[in-house]
Amino acid sequence: MSSLSLPDDEQLRKDAQTRAFINRELQTRFALEDEVLRGSRERAQAENVPAIQISPLQGRLLQVLALSCGARSILEIGALAGYSGVWLARGLPRNGKLISLEVDPKHAEIARATFAAAGLSERAEVRVGPALTLLPTLVPNAPFDLIFIDADKSNYPQYLDWAINLSHPGTLIVADNVIRRGRAFQTPPPDESAAGAAAYNRKILEHPRLTSVALPIVTDAFEDSDSSMDGLAISVVRE
Ligand SMILES: C[S@@+](CC[C@H](N)C(=O)[O-])C[C@H]1O[C@@H](n2cnc3c(N)ncnc32)[C@H](O)[C@@H]1O
Repeated sequence: MSSLSLPDDEQLRKDAQTRAFINRELQTRFALEDEVLRGSRERAQAENVPAIQISPLQGRLLQVLALSCGARSILEIGALAGYSGVWLARGLPRNGKLISLEVDPKHAEIARATFAAAGLSERAEVRVGPALTLLPTLVPNAPFDLIFIDADKSNYPQYLDWAINLSHPGTLIVADNVIRRGRAFQTPPPDESAAGAAAYNRKILEHPRLTSVALPIVTDAFEDSDSSMDGLAISVVRE
């Protein structure tokens, strides 16, 4: 009978170094930050806003997705300091529009400053309030071509319902943090955010109008946080 040998500490350390090396190389090649993106992170840090933005590679992925679906209108739920918003808005044509929802007025103000520094104020708007209050007001702006969900995880299932309401066939719905270090796969999920992510994953799999995939996102950016081992779900809305 063969016995399963678990990696020792030395092997785990080497694996972590390799992951960090790969992430760094990919980021340098595919998702190099410019002054605006760095400025968004620095502005947030100076204001003691938590560094819970997406990674540069995720930002590049969002931009590629926006371009590949020919997005002219994008909705984001959860602006923070405008970091993901810049990546998204840069995937829009000049007359395109990003609407980003943010509950925290301080975050919203920083996001607006980031969009202004990026020369994107015309294209990127921040609306302040709880997303579930703001979403019904967006019906006149719908349909959106791409919707990025990245706010409080417990409301992800409701955000998905709204995203589908505000979509058209072909709309991409992307959600960050759907794995939560694997806690979203535990039965029952051990906390509220894992439960929200688990319910979201179930819904995108079962919904008759969605074709979906979820990908692991392993970064070395936030070593001790959930975001270092999380995931991104991408769904496309069908007829
Ligand atoms: C993970 S951060 C967003 C990161 C951002 N998308 C980025 O990558 O640059 C989540 C944001 O959602 C906001 N948020 C939390 N609950 C919310 C709610 N109910 N409605 C709107 N925004 C909310 C938080 O204040 C925070 O700024």
